Amino acid sequence: MFAGFGYTGLREIGETMKILVVGSGGREHALCWAIAASPICDVIYCAPGNAGIRNEAVCTPISPSDIDGLVVFSKEKDIDFVVVGPEAPLAAGLVDRLEAAGIAAFGPTAKAAQLESSKGFARDLCKRHGVPGPDYVRFTEPAAALKYVQSCGAPIVVKADGLAAGKGVTVAATVSEAEAAIAEIADGRLGVAGSEIVIEECLLGEEASFFALIHGETVLPLAGAQDHKRVGEGDVGPNTGGMGAYSPAPIITESLEKQILEEIVTPVARAMVYEGYPYTGVLYAGVMITETGPKVLEFNVRFGDPECQVLLPRLRSDLLSALIATRDGELTHFDLRWSQDAALCVVMATKGYPQTYETGSEIKGFELIDNLDDVIVFHAGTSMEKDKILATGGRVLGITALGSTVGEARSLAYQAVDLVDWDSGFCRRDIGWRVTSSA
Ligand code: AMP
Ligand code: GLY
Repeated sequence: MFAGFGYTGLREIGETMKILVVGSGGREHALCWAIAASPICDVIYCAPGNAGIRNEAVCTPISPSDIDGLVVFSKEKDIDFVVVGPEAPLAAGLVDRLEAAGIAAFGPTAKAAQLESSKGFARDLCKRHGVPGPDYVRFTEPAAALKYVQSCGAPIVVKADGLAAGKGVTVAATVSEAEAAIAEIADGRLGVAGSEIVIEECLLGEEASFFALIHGETVLPLAGAQDHKRVGEGDVGPNTGGMGAYSPAPIITESLEKQILEEIVTPVARAMVYEGYPYTGVLYAGVMITETGPKVLEFNVRFGDPECQVLLPRLRSDLLSALIATRDGELTHFDLRWSQDAALCVVMATKGYPQTYETGSEIKGFELIDNLDDVIVFHAGTSMEKDKILATGGRVLGITALGSTVGEARSLAYQAVDLVDWDSGFCRRDIGWRVTSSA
């Protein structure tokens, strides 16, 4: 392994690599699917994986939170490169630990992962470096936060500072909603994630996400995407991890992409180096396209889920080489090719999600979808028992289709959705509505 020399390299020409992907969702299925197609990939392990990932990787039952277990496993299997999917192990220092053990890994250090693991950290960094975002104030005392929202009025946004699996943000239309959100955080419902509260100005506009690979100050743009966070059609109801996504995002025009790179992504990469937390990995910038330009809603230090499921099917270049180049600091001359096709992903979830739901229901119909070209079924929350595929989570499948337009991709995705035989599942029927209703 060349990792000890500072490079993730192959020992000899023609040699291939052993990869470990950490995570068990649709994003990790998409990562395994793309990495499996790499000419330099020998074998993929996935910890812990799911029933769909089993087709691409050897699943091993280690939790993403078991940092020691992942390091020991990587050593035992002589893993050449680890790709970390979710944010929690990144924030817990998995990449730091792997690299210290001589194992090359893709993703930011725990310090750099603060861009996602502390909303206050990200806001302060942006403010110090002139990166556009909403006005905000950080509070350690809920009483002071309450007083502040009462003085500002609504709409206003209340956030728990730390990682809260998508449950830490309330966009409050009224002061009483904001008060309730603060009370919930103060009650300890979000654990340590709520030990600080950030209150923000409510930004208005259309939301989009932009992804880039970063090593230090070098930025390699990937592509844009839009997702649907609310559970209900028409973008109403409670927030979820994401009920569907599409890429490209037509709202991100070439000039807007340039602006997002010049005003947000590149300055943040530079700021992280300047402040002593150089960033390595994929940066997911959630932006609001306001009347006065793009402003940062949030940063994530990983691929989005389900955005990853629409980005990777559009990537024509070798993903694994790009991830390795990111880790090795070799991005400067790296170029990526993208399909001109659009991709759209419809998430199928268990009835009841994002509140309570039952697990263990059987899903059938996969073999019918296999007959469709340009459709990929990414598993997000499934397990295999005997020959049956069972739902084990809230978000269970991500049905992705490609087409020459978002509308075409959408028709094909729903054609595939309709072949899924799963009584306990549901999906939104309007993924991509912003694009297809204006087309
Ligand atoms: P976050 O986890 O910070 O991205 O927040 C989740 C969602 O809340 C975002 O995708 C936005 O829809 C919304 N949101 C977050 N911050 C703001 C803000 N300052 N103004 C308006 N909406 C926001
Ligand atoms: N789809 C939103 C996220 O991955 O955070």
